[in-house]
Amino acid sequence: MSRVAIDPFESLPQVMQQMKRPGLLLTCGKEGNPITIGWGNVGVIWGKPVFSVLVRPSRYSFGLLEENGDFSVSIPEAGDSAMAKAVAWCGSHSGRDGDKWAGAGISKEPGITIDIPYVAECPIHYECRRLHVNDIKETTLDRNVATTHYPDGDLHRVWWGEILGAWKVG
Ligand SMILES: Cc1cc2nc3c(=O)[nH]c(=O)nc-3n(C[C@H](O)[C@H](O)[C@H](O)COP(=O)(O)O)c2cc1C
Repeated sequence: MSRVAIDPFESLPQVMQQMKRPGLLLTCGKEGNPITIGWGNVGVIWGKPVFSVLVRPSRYSFGLLEENGDFSVSIPEAGDSAMAKAVAWCGSHSGRDGDKWAGAGISKEPGITIDIPYVAECPIHYECRRLHVNDIKETTLDRNVATTHYPDGDLHRVWWGEILGAWKVG
């Protein structure tokens, strides 16, 4: 299906709504391992549109992002129950154990500006290039956040990706 370029901020309401539930699909690595994410930011930093995503070191995706910092973020259609199931599946299975595309029943499309596929069934997607990474540090983190979200460590690394483009189904 053909895609048309959009302003990356035009689709912010959908991004924020879907991030809450069911989550977004971050794809990374050459084969585009899809991982469900529920946290992230879209904004402007260094004069560029930026999508920041948080991934824990324990994820298979973490190593893929370390090898190649490019990534896509695919935004599911609101109310698409089949996609919601696929997103939940990608959030509870690891690429270490096999091909998540087949497991979740979703299909890949080659990236438009990067060599990372995005999720064909999602009507909107972003393509990003790593500008910076940093780790969440317990020493500087709010105590309540630390105890609530990191009782076992595994603190997130943040990837700050320049949004090279955003597209929707044309
Ligand atoms: C709704 C939801 C949101 C999630 N958000 C994140 C997130 O922002 N960062 C993260 O590292 N894991 C998050 N996860 C967990 C990963 O998606 C999950 O551990 C996944 O199986 C990792 O896949 P991988 O090992 O193939 O990378 C989330 C899971 C769900 C269900």
